[in-house]
Amino acid sequence: MNFVLDVPQPDPRAEAIPLPAVAVKPVSIGSLVIDPPIFQAPMAGFSNYVYRQVVRDFGGVGLYATEMVSATGFAYQVGGLKECVARLWGVKDEPRPLAVQMWDNDPEALAWACHKLAFEYLVSVVDLNFGCPVRKVSEKAESGSYLLRFPARVGQIVARVVKACAPVPVTAKIRLGCTRDTLTATDVAKAVEDAGAAALTVHGRVASDFFGGRADWNRIAEVKAVLKRIPLIGNGDINSSGAAVAAFQKYGVDGVMIGRAALGRPWLFRQAAQALRGEPVMPEPAPAEQAELLLRHQRLVVGRFGEERGNILMRKYACCYALGRPGAREFRGLASRCGSSVEFEHIVREHFPKDAQCSARHAAGSH
Ligand SMILES: Cc1cc2nc3c(=O)[nH]c(=O)nc-3n(C[C@H](O)[C@H](O)[C@H](O)COP(=O)(O)O)c2cc1C
Repeated sequence: MNFVLDVPQPDPRAEAIPLPAVAVKPVSIGSLVIDPPIFQAPMAGFSNYVYRQVVRDFGGVGLYATEMVSATGFAYQVGGLKECVARLWGVKDEPRPLAVQMWDNDPEALAWACHKLAFEYLVSVVDLNFGCPVRKVSEKAESGSYLLRFPARVGQIVARVVKACAPVPVTAKIRLGCTRDTLTATDVAKAVEDAGAAALTVHGRVASDFFGGRADWNRIAEVKAVLKRIPLIGNGDINSSGAAVAAFQKYGVDGVMIGRAALGRPWLFRQAAQALRGEPVMPEPAPAEQAELLLRHQRLVVGRFGEERGNILMRKYACCYALGRPGAREFRGLASRCGSSVEFEHIVREHFPKDAQCSARHAAGSH
């Protein structure tokens, strides 16, 4: 099986976007100062402790985020049979600032779990998910993007969690609405702000898009117009440092969040931070360095998850690292069947795409 995510790739034909005349300011989330105002997106199945560690080695992220965690699942595991939640692995010990993202539709379950995260796990930010389009979360559990139909309900949930976590800031992440015919983002944004949240992230798609089409940044900008007090973080399809700069320049957001494009290019955050500061942007690591990075990533994952599970988990990252590079198809075919560390190392050393020409374009790509 080939693990190919629909990852936004830079358009190699695009001109590099001019750097901003005025450097972008840090963003405040409650009393936290996020500098640079670049956010690593929460990504279930991907943004685990090892991924955050790999990204942290390059820098450029102002606020890191876990994968989303179910509040009900958290209560069951922490209060009951298991001692910890797999998706919270590393959270207690890793550097701050760090956001943990939670989902549920029950204000009390969320309040209980988020309070624990704020005061026992000492997380910097509690983020609430109102954007997940996956059936198990939305339609079945009436959570995530399902709640975008009910701005008042979103407001009640946020208010309850804010009360439970104060003074730890609570933020929310939403999509534009459930469908193109029901764009509720501005109403939800007002409800989130009125409920005392400290920031709002908007992914410029509706739930029914999943990841299809393009993020609508004009709609993201419309949300900015209704927020009076809290910062807006724009999200969707940022695939290069130039695209990050353009998001600030063209759409007036206070921060940007990057997800898929950085899964195989964890240095993208650093490039974006350099571009925002008006500094020269570091070139991509050479293919040989990328291969070494992938091997380091694999060792960390296997160290945590063991030989079998770790190597299975690495298949999807390996595919991301190779994406968009000449020879990626062959590499993906091999990596997707790999089951041991010895085999993984052999495949990476022998078959990781070596052509740097395509890679160099990534640094200057566009939105
Ligand atoms: C595999 C995958 C898992 C995701 N998991 C989450 C999640 O746990 N919480 C969340 O708010 N968004 C999640 N997202 C959405 C991303 O955070 C982000 O909003 C989306 O990918 C758009 O940004 P991008 O174009 O930079 O990737 C996920 C996306 C993908 C592709």
